[in-house]
Amino acid sequence: MSFKIAIDGPAGAGKSTIAKRAAAELGFLYVDTGAMYRAIALGLLRMKTDISSGEALANALSGIEVGLGYENGTQKVFLNGEDVSPLIRTEEVGKMASSAASKPQVRMKLTQLQREIAEKRDVLMDGRDIGTVILPDAQLKIYLTASVETRAQRRYRELCEKGEKAVLEEIAADIRERDFRDMNRETAPLRQAEDAVRIDSSDMTVEEVTGQIVSLVRERQGTLC
Ligand code: DC
Repeated sequence: MSFKIAIDGPAGAGKSTIAKRAAAELGFLYVDTGAMYRAIALGLLRMKTDISSGEALANALSGIEVGLGYENGTQKVFLNGEDVSPLIRTEEVGKMASSAASKPQVRMKLTQLQREIAEKRDVLMDGRDIGTVILPDAQLKIYLTASVETRAQRRYRELCEKGEKAVLEEIAADIRERDFRDMNRETAPLRQAEDAVRIDSSDMTVEEVTGQIVSLVRERQGTLC
């Protein structure tokens, strides 16, 4: 039986950095489900879709196909066959992804695909609803979080390193707004699964968090044998 790890948590808690490292260390397939929502968001932006109209959204979604592929172990996300991985990390796409992710039609489109990917392989999947909706039977569920202040500081440093202008208070306000949307939507809101292990990364290094997750997997693999 394949081993499934679900990592959920708010934006900026370090999920993707940690998930990538833990998956590499364990030899698991890493699936970043946020990238799939971002690819749909890019498609919707390109079509200038008014997502408040159910009909317009349904029409647009019928012309959107999302796929995943791997190149040298790195996940690539495809929008209608085009590799859009380098185009989905903008603030504009992130905001649209968060808004579109609140729409049941959008979530339905990705749920089946994500479950199929996890069916036959050992996977580490990260997102917002992996432990609660997509893989409720995952052998290990992690809820990775950090304070708003820590997450804003991390994002601020990232942007400064890239030479982009950033205002800490604005970043913190954006994070609060996105948390609110992700946690309060009707369909598959972000919340900690009852059987998830909660890790607060505010005062931990990437290595410490990765080490804790890898140890938990080894422990559970040991008890499963
Ligand atoms: O993790 P991220 O920032 O790349 O995700 C982009 C948006 O997609 C995020 O605001 C919430 C949404 N999302 C979701 O609703 N469910 C998931 N499993 C993954 C992401």
